[in-house]
Amino acid sequence: MTIQNSAFGSPVEPLLDLAALRADTPGCESVIHFNNAGCGLLARPVLAAMLDHLRLEAEIGGYEASAARAAEVADFHASVAELIGAGARNIAFAGSATHAFTKALSAIDFRPGDTVLTTRNDFISNQIAFLALRRRHGIRIVHAPDHPDGSGVDVDAMARLMRTHRPRLVSVTHIPTNSGLVQPVAEIGRHCRELDLLYLVDACQSVGQYPIDVTEIGCDLLTATCRKFLRGPRGSGFLYVSDRLLDAGLEPLFIDMYGARWTAPGHYRPVDTAARFEEWEFPYATVLGCAAAVRYALRVGLEPVARRTPALAARLRGQLADLPGVRTLDGGAAPAALVTFAVHGWQPEPFKAAMAARGINSALSYREFAQFDFADKEVEWCLRLSPHYYNTEDEVDEVAAAVAELVGGAR
Ligand SMILES: Cc1ncc(COP(=O)(O)O)c(C=O)c1O
Repeated sequence: MTIQNSAFGSPVEPLLDLAALRADTPGCESVIHFNNAGCGLLARPVLAAMLDHLRLEAEIGGYEASAARAAEVADFHASVAELIGAGARNIAFAGSATHAFTKALSAIDFRPGDTVLTTRNDFISNQIAFLALRRRHGIRIVHAPDHPDGSGVDVDAMARLMRTHRPRLVSVTHIPTNSGLVQPVAEIGRHCRELDLLYLVDACQSVGQYPIDVTEIGCDLLTATCRKFLRGPRGSGFLYVSDRLLDAGLEPLFIDMYGARWTAPGHYRPVDTAARFEEWEFPYATVLGCAAAVRYALRVGLEPVARRTPALAARLRGQLADLPGVRTLDGGAAPAALVTFAVHGWQPEPFKAAMAARGINSALSYREFAQFDFADKEVEWCLRLSPHYYNTEDEVDEVAAAVAELVGGAR
């Protein structure tokens, strides 16, 4: 898939060409988009890939269009594999990160008394899925304690729980939706590998923001969306499945005619690759948009993105921390580009609406999203501001000034 214009500077120039990247991002003209943890702004090549395919479907027919674009569709798997250090055979497209996560869970033959070991900062829908498994299959859910210094999960304590419980699954969210905390997923992975435990990582907020390498993390399964820091379209995500699990025959509970061959009236055989976690019907324009988004991220470079994006957030966090009536909430030594803060004297929706009235996109997190974390922090809600590399320092300062103005005139 060709990138339609050059927004990346010369090959020897390590800095991002911000003007070109912004010119490549139509949304930059209309809004200060600080909701990349919700959904990043599409870049022009992503939009073009999707619109071109919809046009082709209209012109020659949907099945014919996907056949004509088979190589580009296959590039979805190849590009995601390159992004996370895997092979194309290890990647399955999914309609969302949650879809990928629940498909992965469905492949595990949970028995009553099995333990899922997780953290106090895992994503809400993952926690609800574990509770549903507990209700149906009688599993136990164990939450590893946080480190007293606020840096996230206490890895030593978690490792001890691994040894005492021998969990059926260890599941960790790399960066939760409700704060900029970055969990030490690779350290946890080393313990999982040592003890040969099944390890699932939710990398929804980290993919596209940081370089991700599944070998370094040591996970068996990894889930993500394409719409957030990867800047892909909505309704897309992926699942990584390790060779070890594929070769062991792990398959989702419900597998369809794409994921398996019906070899005899009473038999089926899963395909050899992670395609066994996919379904026959694909949103092809979306898949092509994702491939374009991943190629775009690779061209921009995850190293410079990982330097710039959290740095913009740190600038914002620093300015907010100085404001009376604002409490910043992100723990850890080096938080990600999710800036969360509690505001005195405002209700959530009016505060978000007041930001929107100033042309600033933001998001709300509620106690329900983070039962453990928000209870510890004693907050009912917070505003989340999540810049990306294409945002500017001036935008950061404007956003901080808007918060200052609103909190100054609190109601
Ligand atoms: C950490 C994390 N995991 C999972 C999800 C779920 O992603 P999706 O909406 O694609 O299912 C989100 C969405 O905000 C998230 O922040």
